Parts: sequence; structure tokens; C-alpha cells
Amino acid sequence: MSRISEALKRAQQEQNPKQTTPPSRAGRGELLPEELVPLDNSLQGTLLDGCRRPNWTLEESILSRGHSEDHIVAAEELRKLGAWLTQRQRADSLKTLLVTSASPREGKTFLAVNLAWTMAQAKNRRVLLVDGDLRSPSAHLMLGAPLTPGLAEYLEGGVEESQIVQQGPLSNFFFIPGGKCTVNPVELFSTDALKKLISQLSPLFDWIVFDSTPVVSVADARLIAAMTDKLLLVVAAGTSSREAVAKARDFFVNKGLLGVVLNYADPRESYSSYYYRAYKGRQH
Ligand SMILES: Nc1ncnc2c1ncn2[C@@H]1O[C@H](COP(=O)(O)OP(=O)(O)O)[C@@H](O)[C@H]1O
Ligand SMILES: [Mg+2]
Repeated sequence: MSRISEALKRAQQEQNPKQTTPPSRAGRGELLPEELVPLDNSLQGTLLDGCRRPNWTLEESILSRGHSEDHIVAAEELRKLGAWLTQRQRADSLKTLLVTSASPREGKTFLAVNLAWTMAQAKNRRVLLVDGDLRSPSAHLMLGAPLTPGLAEYLEGGVEESQIVQQGPLSNFFFIPGGKCTVNPVELFSTDALKKLISQLSPLFDWIVFDSTPVVSVADARLIAAMTDKLLLVVAAGTSSREAVAKARDFFVNKGLLGVVLNYADPRESYSSYYYRAYKGRQH
């Protein structure tokens, strides 16, 4: 077993958050064929019937597209996380999941997109990814998908549900991009519009995964969290500030925090001690 796999296994045995290992940061993949995947029959007549089906140009940061050892190991960790979530889904009533973190650039978008993509690869499991980061939407960049019209336009009241949902090359994977926000996102998330959107889309999906802003600096993710079932908190190994992570955790403990995902883990280190130190004295 490689040192990476050993470290991952050790972390798992400690029941630590799932970790991903950085793959090489390669550029964009090839353009996908123009052919459109057929719409699932069961979706005919629903609001997804009229959804957009633009061509996407997937980046290689979509883990299932990479072939390096790092990609393979990280993709496997994602599958394990997906399997764990599926178990939790059976136990709890769990469908909408928010991915957030304390600060910027900790891997929220990377995790949200890859997790949703991984879960959508299972048969008979339809997944919707929503870019809830209206300040700096970037999930569309990983997918090579159009940014607009998106969640912002919908929440501002300019477009219908069916106009913001995109279907890409994977028949089970749907996406709502962030769009272009012209007002403060806090205002948009403070109305009932997102709640209405979730309740309309929920019956059509097995999972709805939200990407979001960092929680410490702005309230957006906390407002979305109030409308989703559970959340995953991403922690960047070695760089996340302990105080910021503890603050983020305090926002959500007993309010939907399902688990912590340790991103950018160096497989040569054991992160179990890091994780527990970060929260020492703050556990309820
Ligand atoms: N595990 C990882 N392996 C490789 N690259 C990563 C990983 N996590 C994040 N990145 C990259 O780091 C950058 C910041 O991650 P991102 O997901 O955009 O952070 P956030 O959404 O928290 O601001 C992006 O370029 C992303 O592709
Ligand atoms: Mg992001």
C-alpha cells in the first residue's frame, strides 16, 4: 500500500473527516461531444423537461477525469464519502447538503462539484449541484458551463426555475450556476425564494448539493444552511486558521453540521491530532 493510501486509511480509522489528496492542477479537458444525453423519461412533463442542455467543457479538476495516482486516490475517497452520505441518507431524512468552510480557497467548490459528480455516477441517483456562492461563483468554471442565467437571476425574480437548470453530459447530473448578482446576496437569501426553489426541485432529485461562500466573513452560507438538511465543513489541512474553523464550527454545531472534510491533506502527516486539536475544548 502506498504511503498515501496508508495515511488515508489511518485517517479513516480515526473516524476523521474524509480527506482528498490534491491532484495535479491540469488545465481544461477536451470539448465534450455536442451530442446531448437523453432526458430521463420520468422527468418528462416536470420542470426539468425544459431545462437547458448546453455543451460543457469539464476541467481536469473533476477527479473522475484524471488518471494520476493522486486523482485515483482522491476519487476513491470521494466515493467513500458518497457511500457514507448515502448511509446517512437512509438513517436520517437527508437530501439537501451544503458545502462550506470558514475562509476562502479551502476547497468548497472543488469538493461540492466533485462530490455531486461522484454521487451522480451511481445508477438511479439524480443529483443537482447549486452554486450558492453568488459573490464569487466558480462551480461553472470547473464544469465549463455557462454562468447565466443562474441562481442570482432566479432569486432576483427575473427567470423561471426551468431556465436556470442545466443538464450536462452525465444524465443524472444537473446544475444551477451562480449567475450574476446585482444586489447583496444576503437580501436574496433572506426571502422565501430559495426555499420555494428547493421545495420544487426536491422531489426530482436524490441529492441537492450547494456550494457556498465562506461562513466567517459573510452570512450567505448561514442563511442557506437554515434551508438545507445538513452541511459539510471543509478544512484546509495546514492552512485553515484554527480560530476561524472553530468559529465556523460554532455557527453550525447542533444546527446541521454533519461532518468535516479535510482537504489538501499531506499523506505523510497524520491529521488526526490536527483535527482534534482544532476543536479541543469546544465540543459539546
Ligand atoms: N484537493 C484538491 N486538489 C487539488 N486542487 C484543489 C483541491 N482543493 C481545491 N483545489 C483547488 O484550489 C483552488 C481553490 O479551491 P476552491 O474549491 O475554489 O476553494 P473555495 O471554493 O473554498 O474558495 C481551486 O483552484 C481548486 O481547484
Ligand atoms: Mg468556491
